[in-house]
Amino acid sequence: MKKHAACYFVVFCAITIGYLSKRSTADLDATPRITVTYNELSDAKWFNDNVKNYSTLLLEDENGILYVGARGAIFSLNSSDISQRSWRTIHWEVNAKETKTCQDKGRNNQTECFNHIRLLQRFNKTHLYVCGTHAFSPLCCYINVKTFLLPATFEDGKEKCPYDPVIGYTGLIIDGGLYTASRYAFHSAPDIRRNIVPHALKAEASPLHWLMGDAEFVTSALIRESLTTAIGDDDKIYYFFNENIMEDTSEFLEKTKVARVARVCKSDIGGKKILQRKWTSFLKARLFCSSPYSEILKSAYTLDVGNWEATIFYAAFMYQWGNMKFSVVCRYSLPDIQKVFEGPYMEYQDSSRKWTKYNGEVPKPRPGSCITNEFRNSGYNSSQDLPNNVLDFVKLHPLVSEVVKPIGDQQLLSKKNIVYTRIAVDRVTALDEQQYDVLFLGTDTGYIHKAVVINNKVHIIEEINVFKTPEAVENLVISKKQNSLYIGAQSGVLQLPLSGCNQYTSCYDCILARNPYCGWDGSTCREHLTSPNWVQMTQDMQNGNRGCLNDTDEAPPIKKVRTVLKGDDVLLQCDLRSNLARPQWFVNGSDPLDSDDAHHRVGNDGLLITNALLEHSGEYSCYSEERGLQAIVTSYNVSVLLELKGKIYSEPTPFVQLPTPAPQGSSQLEFVYISIITILGGLCLVLSIVLVSVSCQQKRKGKYITANSRMNAVELQTVSSNFKDKSEERNNYSDGCLQIIPGEAPTSPPSKLNPPPPPPPPPLPSEFTNGISTLPNMLRKMNGNSYMLLRQNDEASSPLYNSFTEELSKILEKRKHTQLVEKLDESSV
Ligand SMILES: *[C@@H]1O[C@H](CO)[C@@H](O)[C@H](O)[C@H]1NC(C)=O
Ligand SMILES: *[C@@H]1O[C@H](CO)[C@@H](O)[C@H](O)[C@H]1NC(C)=O
Ligand SMILES: *[C@@H]1O[C@H](CO)[C@@H](O)[C@H](O)[C@H]1NC(C)=O
Ligand SMILES: *[C@@H]1O[C@H](CO)[C@@H](O)[C@H](O)[C@H]1NC(C)=O
Ligand SMILES: *[C@@H]1O[C@H](CO)[C@@H](O)[C@H](O)[C@H]1NC(C)=O
Ligand SMILES: *[C@@H]1O[C@H](CO)[C@@H](O)[C@H](O)[C@H]1NC(C)=O
Ligand SMILES: *[C@@H]1O[C@H](CO)[C@@H](O)[C@H](O)[C@H]1NC(C)=O
Ligand SMILES: *[C@@H]1O[C@H](CO)[C@@H](O)[C@H](O)[C@H]1NC(C)=O
Repeated sequence: MKKHAACYFVVFCAITIGYLSKRSTADLDATPRITVTYNELSDAKWFNDNVKNYSTLLLEDENGILYVGARGAIFSLNSSDISQRSWRTIHWEVNAKETKTCQDKGRNNQTECFNHIRLLQRFNKTHLYVCGTHAFSPLCCYINVKTFLLPATFEDGKEKCPYDPVIGYTGLIIDGGLYTASRYAFHSAPDIRRNIVPHALKAEASPLHWLMGDAEFVTSALIRESLTTAIGDDDKIYYFFNENIMEDTSEFLEKTKVARVARVCKSDIGGKKILQRKWTSFLKARLFCSSPYSEILKSAYTLDVGNWEATIFYAAFMYQWGNMKFSVVCRYSLPDIQKVFEGPYMEYQDSSRKWTKYNGEVPKPRPGSCITNEFRNSGYNSSQDLPNNVLDFVKLHPLVSEVVKPIGDQQLLSKKNIVYTRIAVDRVTALDEQQYDVLFLGTDTGYIHKAVVINNKVHIIEEINVFKTPEAVENLVISKKQNSLYIGAQSGVLQLPLSGCNQYTSCYDCILARNPYCGWDGSTCREHLTSPNWVQMTQDMQNGNRGCLNDTDEAPPIKKVRTVLKGDDVLLQCDLRSNLARPQWFVNGSDPLDSDDAHHRVGNDGLLITNALLEHSGEYSCYSEERGLQAIVTSYNVSVLLELKGKIYSEPTPFVQLPTPAPQGSSQLEFVYISIITILGGLCLVLSIVLVSVSCQQKRKGKYITANSRMNAVELQTVSSNFKDKSEERNNYSDGCLQIIPGEAPTSPPSKLNPPPPPPPPPLPSEFTNGISTLPNMLRKMNGNSYMLLRQNDEASSPLYNSFTEELSKILEKRKHTQLVEKLDESSV
């Protein structure tokens, strides 16, 4: 038996690995086009108020209010601007005695003995219904939204609200009934319950458990299927959760978690004798996304598009393979789910202790169904009228055998090493009059990925770092009315605009973004939905590159000047905003740069010219190339000076008129000598001035200094530029440049002045080892030659002495999503 299991396991691993490698194609692993760092966040509004865990959100768009349930408090915020100071608060905390009781139950007084608000729902016109864990002894209450005060009386929250603040839970109030699902008490079995209304119901637990003991609920959704129904159908509540697999009991699969969708009917009132006060309409099915192995549902979102038949469920899953984590996103259509619930059942075979497909006769009317016209015509007006054989069947057949497959039988998106904790979806009509679904995906490290589904593929418009310190996104709510996304997390609530059009400053940027909210109106990128002249606006969702051809109002970038000694290295920075763009360099106008050349290396941050020769002088322009469009980013005038003895050079401004360097043929040697003498003369003059001005600073010569400019980009400068005035220096190097002068640094590590060398840089994340493996080699070579001097530009921060490699890897990290141009590999050989 054990042998068999091992054998199965190996086969299964192989299948799964094969599956992963097949499915995780580059195509599906979309790179976010733009990375917005926390410091670049604009238009964000914050709310927090000295409490923690802002995880429960209830948006009432029509009233313009966002209710927030946190730890020990409930807030009422103005949804048009949650940072407005006019918010209202209800403090609902536990007292010392209750904390003590909680602690005596063996609970952790640091995490579990508080009142975490877990349910926040509208009850009637005047009241909200709120439940809190209340130090492991849940309570609920009705809150009058007008007065917004904690009431004097409370209801017992057991069987409505979990005791545990983090356990999976979902709750909805529908037509006066409270529908909740959780593992309520400590060690209690999971249950789907209805409360408050007269017909309280639960799930059956004998002889079979309808839910496995570890069921972890994720979310629930009401679908009003009684509207526009031809068969007199009932409203249904769908539950999304994870549980241990039950239908496949081969040994190694026992611990496999599967995602489930279950549903109950709203008008269910239980059976009369059999299934008394139990659901008669409970059915569940497996929700499959992409992996035959464990797949954990993290979040699901019900996209309501007006008519219930077109409802789409979006779901984010996570699976783990060794240390590797994958997130996948799938979407499901309601008719597909309905079809599965109408298909064959599974049955538990006592003899083999296995669940297998049930092939026997199914009693009529169909067990687990809602009461429809067909039922009524046969005299079954309510679930209490149902015949015994039907209810007996329901009891033993909670699971259907078909699996719910995603639309198109494929996943939409898969991301390696990212865990999506939350998903919300907005459907937007773009300028091409087509509808696009925009996904907002929250990660466990405080990012929001904004993505759009275009022809069944996902394009990630941007990734936004919304929290300063990594923390999980716990809730996402969309308000179309306020054009806002509300993000709930441990440290607070954040409000972001849905569209974010004003971050695109050029027509190209606006079009390439493929952001369905945004169009170019000739001068700015803005929301077309609220724009009066939307007819004239430009957008290209399908291709993302058309409409800007005649756009000439982009100002050419300011030309920067770089002067470098022959034999030195110089980095011409070119920061591409888009992670999907490739840099294209042109020399002296239109000659594309020959990157096969041993002297040139094109990276994502710029162009590195190594061991510069005189003929490398010229005008270098960097273009960003994306989807066939080219836009200039920056350009440089580079002058290479002949190498001179000693440290002479100081001014990078072109005050030294460099004679056109001649080819180093013997016939023109004379000219070269004359040139050298001229330059020497000029430089001697400068040197003498410099020497006077720096004589007091002589000791600083030869220090290794790290540069760290504003944008986290690295600024590497020559030591000689130390001597200049700070402000002047900013002007000349404001863009951050690297000039490397050999021989200036001590050949042995400067042990006295510098702290011990830093530990080797951390291994590069797997995402960008591809294609750049050659760069570190090159850097090692440069270190070996004891090149360079890095200087701390930021006076405020203490001087940090980092290795060149580390600094460069920081540059790379910023652009970690892109890969270096392939040619790099060859040139380093
Ligand atoms: C509440 O927040 C604190 C700190 O932010 C965190 O340690 C804790 O796990 C959170 N609790 C829940 C239930 O989310
Ligand atoms: C929210 O703020 C807006 C703008 O300040 C204001 O017009 C509106 O009345 C406020 N809404 C509520 C419910 O207070
Ligand atoms: C929590 O419990 C520990 C020991 O059980 C105790 O030392 C500590 O003071 C308690 N903390 C609070 C906030 O009650
Ligand atoms: C709403 O429910 C509360 C609590 O049961 C009750 O006191 C209140 O009168 C109800 N309001 C309306 C308008 O029915
Ligand atoms: C069901 O309802 C119909 C009409 O409302 C009624 O005539 C019939 O007797 C009811 N049947 C049962 C079993 O209650
Ligand atoms: C660009 O100019 C050409 C000719 O000048 C014109 O036909 C075309 O419509 C213009 N395109 C846009 C997008 O303005
Ligand atoms: C650019 O043009 C200048 C002057 O015409 C020439 O000296 C230089 O070598 C050219 N640079 C390159 C890289 O071709
Ligand atoms: C760059 O060099 C060209 C000639 O090579 C010159 O005409 C131009 O003025 C220079 N630009 C700057 C900003 O120095």
